[in-house]
Amino acid sequence: MAVVKDARVPLIAGNWKLNLDHLQAIAFVQKLAWSLKDAGHDFDGVEVAVFPPFTDLRSVQTLIGADRLPLGLGAQDVSQHDSGAFTGEISGAFLKALDCAYVIIGHSERRSLHSETDEVVAAKTAAAIKHKLVPVICVGETADDLEAHGPAAIPIAQLTAALAQVPQGSDIVVAYEPVWAIGSGQAATPEQAQTVASALRSVVAESLGADVAAATRILYGGSVKSANIAGFMRQSDIDGALVGGASLDVAEFSAIAQFPKHVGV
Ligand code: 13P
Repeated sequence: MAVVKDARVPLIAGNWKLNLDHLQAIAFVQKLAWSLKDAGHDFDGVEVAVFPPFTDLRSVQTLIGADRLPLGLGAQDVSQHDSGAFTGEISGAFLKALDCAYVIIGHSERRSLHSETDEVVAAKTAAAIKHKLVPVICVGETADDLEAHGPAAIPIAQLTAALAQVPQGSDIVVAYEPVWAIGSGQAATPEQAQTVASALRSVVAESLGADVAAATRILYGGSVKSANIAGFMRQSDIDGALVGGASLDVAEFSAIAQFPKHVGV
Protein backbone atom coordinates (compact mmCIF):
# COMPACT_ATOMS: atom_id res chain seq x y z
CA MET A 1 0.00 0.00 0.00
CA ALA A 2 2.86 2.40 0.80
CA VAL A 3 4.13 2.10 -2.76
CA VAL A 4 0.70 2.99 -4.14
CA LYS A 5 0.41 5.90 -1.73
CA ASP A 6 3.80 7.20 -2.86
CA ALA A 7 2.42 7.50 -6.38
CA ARG A 8 -0.20 10.02 -5.26
CA VAL A 9 1.00 13.60 -4.79
CA PRO A 10 -0.50 14.82 -1.50
CA LEU A 11 -2.85 17.79 -1.74
CA ILE A 12 -3.20 20.39 0.98
CA ALA A 13 -6.29 22.41 0.09
CA GLY A 14 -7.49 25.58 1.81
CA ASN A 15 -11.26 26.10 1.76
CA TRP A 16 -11.62 29.76 2.71
CA LYS A 17 -15.43 29.55 2.85
CA LEU A 18 -16.99 33.04 3.15
CA ASN A 19 -13.78 34.82 4.17
CA LEU A 20 -11.36 37.32 2.56
CA ASP A 21 -12.41 39.76 -0.16
CA HIS A 22 -10.35 40.07 -3.35
CA LEU A 23 -7.90 42.60 -1.88
CA GLN A 24 -7.36 40.53 1.25
CA ALA A 25 -7.01 37.47 -0.98
CA ILE A 26 -4.15 39.03 -2.96
CA ALA A 27 -2.25 39.95 0.21
CA PHE A 28 -2.90 36.52 1.69
CA VAL A 29 -1.75 34.53 -1.35
CA GLN A 30 1.39 36.65 -1.67
CA LYS A 31 2.24 35.95 1.96
CA LEU A 32 1.45 32.28 1.61
CA ALA A 33 3.73 31.88 -1.40
CA TRP A 34 6.52 33.70 0.46
CA SER A 35 6.07 31.62 3.55
CA LEU A 36 6.17 28.35 1.61
CA LYS A 37 9.20 29.40 -0.42
CA ASP A 38 10.98 30.61 2.72
CA ALA A 39 10.40 27.21 4.29
CA GLY A 40 11.88 25.51 1.22
CA HIS A 41 8.55 23.90 0.36
CA ASP A 42 8.76 21.05 -2.15
CA PHE A 43 5.91 22.10 -4.44
CA ASP A 44 6.29 18.98 -6.60
CA GLY A 45 6.15 16.77 -3.53
CA VAL A 46 3.13 18.39 -1.86
CA GLU A 47 0.58 20.32 -3.91
CA VAL A 48 -0.96 23.35 -2.24
CA ALA A 49 -4.22 24.83 -3.47
CA VAL A 50 -6.51 27.64 -2.35
CA PHE A 51 -10.30 27.81 -2.74
CA PRO A 52 -11.32 31.47 -2.37
CA PRO A 53 -14.82 32.93 -2.80
CA PHE A 54 -15.94 33.43 -6.43
CA THR A 55 -15.33 37.18 -6.36
CA ASP A 56 -11.64 36.62 -5.52
CA LEU A 57 -10.89 34.14 -8.28
CA ARG A 58 -9.93 36.59 -11.01
CA SER A 59 -7.56 38.49 -8.70
CA VAL A 60 -5.90 35.33 -7.41
CA GLN A 61 -5.65 33.90 -10.93
CA THR A 62 -3.90 37.07 -12.11
CA LEU A 63 -1.46 37.01 -9.18
CA ILE A 64 -0.64 33.32 -9.61
CA GLY A 65 -0.11 33.85 -13.34
CA ALA A 66 1.93 37.08 -13.09
CA ASP A 67 4.23 35.84 -10.32
CA ARG A 68 4.23 32.23 -11.55
CA LEU A 69 3.25 31.01 -8.11
CA PRO A 70 3.22 27.23 -7.80
CA LEU A 71 -0.22 27.19 -6.18
CA GLY A 72 -3.39 25.48 -7.34
CA LEU A 73 -6.66 27.37 -7.60
CA GLY A 74 -10.17 26.10 -7.04
CA ALA A 75 -13.72 27.33 -6.50
CA GLN A 76 -16.05 26.39 -3.66
CA ASP A 77 -19.06 25.41 -5.76
CA VAL A 78 -20.28 25.16 -9.35
CA SER A 79 -23.64 25.16 -11.06
CA GLN A 80 -24.95 21.95 -12.54
CA HIS A 81 -26.00 24.12 -15.52
CA ASP A 82 -23.77 25.50 -18.27
CA SER A 83 -25.66 28.76 -18.93
CA GLY A 84 -29.13 30.24 -18.96
CA ALA A 85 -31.74 31.65 -16.58
CA PHE A 86 -30.13 30.55 -13.30
CA THR A 87 -29.71 33.75 -11.29
CA GLY A 88 -26.73 33.68 -8.98
CA GLU A 89 -25.21 30.50 -10.42
CA ILE A 90 -21.64 30.12 -11.74
CA SER A 91 -20.87 27.85 -14.68
CA GLY A 92 -18.01 25.39 -14.80
CA ALA A 93 -17.03 27.01 -18.10
CA PHE A 94 -16.52 30.33 -16.30
CA LEU A 95 -14.33 28.67 -13.66
CA LYS A 96 -12.25 26.93 -16.30
CA ALA A 97 -11.77 30.29 -18.04
CA LEU A 98 -10.28 31.59 -14.77
CA ASP A 99 -7.75 28.71 -14.73
CA CYS A 100 -9.43 26.95 -11.85
CA ALA A 101 -8.15 23.40 -11.66
CA TYR A 102 -10.52 22.26 -8.93
CA VAL A 103 -13.98 22.82 -7.56
CA ILE A 104 -15.36 21.71 -4.20
CA ILE A 105 -18.66 19.88 -4.55
CA GLY A 106 -21.16 18.80 -1.92
CA HIS A 107 -19.52 20.44 1.07
CA SER A 108 -21.60 19.68 4.17
CA GLU A 109 -22.43 23.39 4.47
CA ARG A 110 -23.96 23.31 0.99
CA ARG A 111 -25.79 20.10 1.79
CA SER A 112 -27.19 21.37 5.11
CA LEU A 113 -27.60 25.13 4.53
CA HIS A 114 -28.49 25.06 0.82
CA SER A 115 -30.41 21.78 0.71
CA GLU A 116 -28.09 20.14 -1.81
CA THR A 117 -29.23 16.56 -2.32
CA ASP A 118 -27.16 13.63 -3.51
CA GLU A 119 -28.76 14.13 -6.95
CA VAL A 120 -27.61 17.78 -7.11
CA VAL A 121 -24.14 16.75 -5.96
CA ALA A 122 -24.02 14.11 -8.72
CA ALA A 123 -25.13 16.65 -11.35
CA LYS A 124 -22.54 19.19 -10.17
CA THR A 125 -19.83 16.52 -10.18
CA ALA A 126 -20.72 15.64 -13.76
CA ALA A 127 -20.74 19.34 -14.72
CA ALA A 128 -17.27 19.84 -13.22
CA ILE A 129 -15.85 16.92 -15.16
CA LYS A 130 -17.54 18.09 -18.35
CA HIS A 131 -15.69 21.41 -17.99
CA LYS A 132 -12.38 19.71 -17.16
CA LEU A 133 -12.38 20.77 -13.53
CA VAL A 134 -11.31 18.21 -10.95
CA PRO A 135 -14.21 17.83 -8.48
CA VAL A 136 -13.27 17.70 -4.81
CA ILE A 137 -16.25 15.62 -3.72
CA CYS A 138 -17.06 16.11 -0.05
CA VAL A 139 -18.76 13.42 1.99
CA GLY A 140 -19.25 12.93 5.70
CA GLU A 141 -21.59 11.88 8.45
CA THR A 142 -23.24 13.98 11.13
CA ALA A 143 -22.94 13.17 14.83
CA ASP A 144 -26.41 11.57 14.69
CA ASP A 145 -25.40 9.50 11.64
CA LEU A 146 -22.28 8.41 13.48
CA GLU A 147 -24.34 7.16 16.40
CA ALA A 148 -26.98 5.50 14.23
CA HIS A 149 -24.90 4.04 11.40
CA GLY A 150 -21.21 4.24 12.36
CA PRO A 151 -18.72 6.42 10.49
CA ALA A 152 -18.62 4.87 7.02
CA ALA A 153 -22.21 4.16 5.88
CA ILE A 154 -23.28 7.71 5.01
CA PRO A 155 -19.99 8.72 3.33
CA ILE A 156 -20.13 5.52 1.26
CA ALA A 157 -23.72 6.22 0.19
CA GLN A 158 -22.93 9.88 -0.60
CA LEU A 159 -19.88 9.01 -2.68
CA THR A 160 -21.68 6.21 -4.54
CA ALA A 161 -24.41 8.70 -5.47
CA ALA A 162 -21.92 11.42 -6.46
CA LEU A 163 -20.09 9.10 -8.84
CA ALA A 164 -23.24 7.91 -10.61
CA GLN A 165 -22.66 10.02 -13.74
CA VAL A 166 -18.86 10.15 -13.67
CA PRO A 167 -17.21 8.63 -16.75
CA GLN A 168 -14.58 5.91 -16.31
CA GLY A 169 -11.04 7.24 -16.02
CA SER A 170 -12.05 10.64 -14.60
CA ASP A 171 -9.68 12.56 -12.34
CA ILE A 172 -11.41 13.18 -9.02
CA VAL A 173 -10.49 14.06 -5.44
CA VAL A 174 -12.56 12.83 -2.51
CA ALA A 175 -12.69 14.68 0.81
CA TYR A 176 -13.91 12.83 3.89
CA GLU A 177 -15.19 15.50 6.25
CA PRO A 178 -17.13 14.25 9.25
CA VAL A 179 -19.67 17.01 9.90
CA TRP A 180 -19.11 16.78 13.66
CA ALA A 181 -15.41 17.51 13.15
CA ILE A 182 -15.86 20.63 11.00
CA GLY A 183 -15.06 23.80 12.91
CA SER A 184 -15.49 21.97 16.22
CA GLY A 185 -11.85 21.65 17.21
CA GLN A 186 -12.52 17.94 17.56
CA ALA A 187 -10.90 16.14 14.64
CA ALA A 188 -11.51 12.48 13.90
CA THR A 189 -8.71 10.21 15.02
CA PRO A 190 -6.32 9.25 12.21
CA GLU A 191 -7.46 5.63 12.60
CA GLN A 192 -11.16 6.59 12.25
CA ALA A 193 -10.36 8.67 9.18
CA GLN A 194 -8.28 5.87 7.67
CA THR A 195 -11.11 3.35 8.09
CA VAL A 196 -13.51 5.60 6.17
CA ALA A 197 -10.90 6.63 3.58
CA SER A 198 -10.18 2.98 2.83
CA ALA A 199 -13.92 2.28 2.40
CA LEU A 200 -14.23 5.30 0.10
CA ARG A 201 -11.33 4.05 -2.03
CA SER A 202 -13.25 0.80 -2.47
CA VAL A 203 -16.28 2.81 -3.66
CA VAL A 204 -14.09 4.54 -6.25
CA ALA A 205 -12.72 1.15 -7.33
CA GLU A 206 -16.23 -0.26 -7.77
CA SER A 207 -17.50 2.79 -9.66
CA LEU A 208 -14.48 3.82 -11.70
CA GLY A 209 -12.09 0.88 -11.62
CA ALA A 210 -8.98 -0.13 -9.69
CA ASP A 211 -6.59 2.15 -11.59
CA VAL A 212 -8.61 5.27 -10.88
CA ALA A 213 -9.00 4.20 -7.24
CA ALA A 214 -5.23 3.78 -6.87
CA ALA A 215 -4.63 7.25 -8.37
CA THR A 216 -7.43 9.11 -6.54
CA ARG A 217 -6.44 11.38 -3.70
CA ILE A 218 -8.58 11.05 -0.61
CA LEU A 219 -8.36 13.98 1.78
CA TYR A 220 -9.38 14.26 5.40
CA GLY A 221 -11.10 17.47 6.56
CA GLY A 222 -12.37 18.64 9.93
CA SER A 223 -10.34 20.64 12.47
CA VAL A 224 -7.02 19.95 10.72
CA LYS A 225 -4.10 21.90 12.20
CA SER A 226 -0.33 21.74 12.00
CA ALA A 227 -0.40 19.85 15.32
CA ASN A 228 -2.53 16.96 14.00
CA ILE A 229 -1.76 16.73 10.25
CA ALA A 230 1.09 14.24 10.70
CA GLY A 231 -1.18 11.59 12.19
CA PHE A 232 -3.49 11.76 9.19
CA MET A 233 -0.70 11.77 6.63
CA ARG A 234 0.78 8.59 8.12
CA GLN A 235 -2.39 6.71 7.10
CA SER A 236 -2.13 4.65 3.93
CA ASP A 237 -5.36 5.95 2.34
CA ILE A 238 -5.15 9.62 3.33
CA ASP A 239 -3.48 11.79 0.71
CA GLY A 240 -3.92 15.27 2.08
CA ALA A 241 -6.30 17.59 3.86
CA LEU A 242 -9.16 19.96 3.15
CA VAL A 243 -8.53 22.70 5.67
CA GLY A 244 -11.07 25.32 6.74
CA GLY A 245 -10.28 27.66 9.64
CA ALA A 246 -6.54 26.94 9.71
CA SER A 247 -6.25 27.77 6.00
CA LEU A 248 -6.90 31.44 6.85
CA ASP A 249 -3.70 31.69 8.89
CA VAL A 250 -0.64 31.86 6.63
CA ALA A 251 1.81 30.43 9.17
CA GLU A 252 -0.52 27.64 10.20
CA PHE A 253 -1.55 26.66 6.65
CA SER A 254 2.06 26.78 5.53
CA ALA A 255 3.03 24.56 8.47
CA ILE A 256 0.29 22.07 7.52
CA ALA A 257 1.68 21.95 3.97
CA GLN A 258 5.12 21.28 5.49
CA PHE A 259 3.85 18.05 7.03
CA PRO A 260 6.68 15.90 5.58
CA LYS A 261 8.99 17.67 8.06
CA HIS A 262 6.99 16.33 10.98
CA VAL A 263 5.45 13.10 9.76
CA GLY A 264 8.54 11.20 10.83
CA VAL A 265 8.16 8.17 8.59
P1 13P B 1 -12.31 23.32 9.63
O1 13P B 1 -10.89 22.99 9.20
O2 13P B 1 -12.50 24.74 10.02
O3 13P B 1 -12.81 22.33 10.63
O4 13P B 1 -13.23 23.14 8.31
C1 13P B 1 -13.11 22.00 7.55
C2 13P B 1 -13.84 22.21 6.30
O5 13P B 1 -15.06 22.31 6.28
C3 13P B 1 -13.06 22.29 5.05
O6 13P B 1 -13.87 22.20 3.93
